[in-house]
Amino acid sequence: MLVLGIETSCDETSVAVVKDGTEVLSSVQHSQVKFHEKYGGVVPELGARMHVENIGHVYNSALETADISYKNIDLVAVTTEPGLAPALNCGVAFAKGLSASLRKPLVKINHIMAHAYSLYLKQALPTPKKYPIVVLTVSGGHTQLSIFESPTECKVVGRTVDDSAGECFDKVARMLNLGYPGGPAIEKAAIEGDEFAVDFPRPMLNSGDYNFSFSGLKTAVLYHIRDTLKVFNPAISEDYTSEIERFATYDIAASLQSAIVDVLVEKSIDLAKEMKITQLGIAGGVSANTKLREIAIRRGSESGIDVFFPELKYCTDNAAMVAGLGYHCVK
Ligand code: KG4
Ligand code: ZN
Repeated sequence: MLVLGIETSCDETSVAVVKDGTEVLSSVQHSQVKFHEKYGGVVPELGARMHVENIGHVYNSALETADISYKNIDLVAVTTEPGLAPALNCGVAFAKGLSASLRKPLVKINHIMAHAYSLYLKQALPTPKKYPIVVLTVSGGHTQLSIFESPTECKVVGRTVDDSAGECFDKVARMLNLGYPGGPAIEKAAIEGDEFAVDFPRPMLNSGDYNFSFSGLKTAVLYHIRDTLKVFNPAISEDYTSEIERFATYDIAASLQSAIVDVLVEKSIDLAKEMKITQLGIAGGVSANTKLREIAIRRGSESGIDVFFPELKYCTDNAAMVAGLGYHCVK
């Protein structure tokens, strides 16, 4: 069965063709990151306009790369929630038109469920073999811990009570003038920094539940920056050079990354242990983070838990995960 997937929930216009739920024949993206960069974040109305402009050629290129005709499409799958409404509407309108003209069924896909399913796409990295699996979905919009019994059945056990982990990366990167999107920028700066330099809080690490909170951490970083970086605090001593400031910035990035990773990994491992589930998957944009991958794999192996990640191209928003999950919605 060939499923055409469409994803426009945020700043990626993506169309993919996936065979029988796992074999990705094509996954084409048009990224708006360069465009939104100058605003320091996604501007929904402008983003929606760009989806409208680009979705036609992204669709044509997905068919071409997969080497199929539109006549071969058996099913259309589209992300309908959650996401930015003007952006989602564009993909949904395109999908509805396509489904009607091809006379093929249309399935609605939840974006967070699709991120979790990205773990099961055929790829170079090992994929989980079976269910159940604990999945941490961690992106710009969400931080959620769930137990999956199948691609389409899950129980949400915890989520953030305020900001998502990705949002915390993005907002701190903005405070530090490191650019957008913040996650990759913080990761790059952190390579040069000392993760033990600043002892940022590990919010809700011992809260006794599986919820998260990142808003207080973001504020802790803001206060630290105001107190220590000259760019915010001109009263700081004269011999404070831009070189010192640069390294202070790297240290903040490394310490923040370490605080976020500690909380995400410990809570996920705790849940897997409590439920006696030996598989943990981490998906969504933040799962591209190298430090998160290293620590999760290390903590998993200490606890007898196999830890899985999507390939980097399936961590951030993509339509392959949407098409893959679409297959399981009609089976
Ligand atoms: O899944 P995604 O592409 O979009 C949403 O569904 O929100 O995730 C985007 C988020 C952004 O917050 C971005 O900063 C973060 O994922 N991200 C990262 C990395 N790459 C992307 N965070 C940390 N480290 C990374 N390497
Ligand atoms: Zn996403």
